[in-house]
Amino acid sequence: MNKLYPDSGVELSKFTASNYDKVMNIASFGKYKSFINRAIADIEISKDDKILDLGCGTGRNILLMNKYTGNNSLLIGLDISEDMERQFEENTLNYPNISFINKRIDQLFELEQKFDKIFISFVIHGFPHEIRKIIIKNAYNNLKSGGTFNILDFAEFDMAKMPFHHRFIFKKIECKYAFDFIARDWKSILMDNGFDNFEESFYFKNYVRLLKASKS
Ligand SMILES: C[S@@+](CC[C@H](N)C(=O)[O-])C[C@H]1O[C@@H](n2cnc3c(N)ncnc32)[C@H](O)[C@@H]1O
Repeated sequence: MNKLYPDSGVELSKFTASNYDKVMNIASFGKYKSFINRAIADIEISKDDKILDLGCGTGRNILLMNKYTGNNSLLIGLDISEDMERQFEENTLNYPNISFINKRIDQLFELEQKFDKIFISFVIHGFPHEIRKIIIKNAYNNLKSGGTFNILDFAEFDMAKMPFHHRFIFKKIECKYAFDFIARDWKSILMDNGFDNFEESFYFKNYVRLLKASKS
């Protein structure tokens, strides 16, 4: 597949997409499972929530979110990768309240219904900043009033202050957009786009953050 954004690291190769969950387990030295469990608990999902996952990948996160929901919930994942779609469909086969839509999140869209929570995990950092603003608009336009946009991604940190071995790994594995992402003030960007009432939780030596923002 030709990349939409050639410098992006979130448009994955066929190999990485097909083995994504295993790659994440290995890359995190086995710590991914406990970390993602904590992050998803911190979203504070309610039983009847309607949740949209932007760039949902294999469905691993949506299945974890589904543990907090009941019969009236609805969880929809959007992604453009056919390899992710195949794994998502296999993984969520027995869950009628979970579905997948093959859709670009970097173009404006409005789905038929509005959501209580929108989640985006390790996706938004991988786009040019102007495109990130479209993704934020999509989150705003598809949320109910009072709903929350939950961004799980790199925190804001100064690469120059990282220990050498952390900086070396970050520079080796991340794309150029990630370096720009960590240098921005995300609360003020979200505030400029209509969000307020921020809450944040940190993981992985504070390099990763769940930033929750409300649509009033
Ligand atoms: C790094 S993976 C993260 C997957 C998942 N959110 C997770 O945390 O496990 C990035 C995901 O974003 C998807 N993606 C990249 N560009 C996209 C786009 N323009 N529209 C929708 N999904 C996209 C990729 O196919 C991939 O599944």
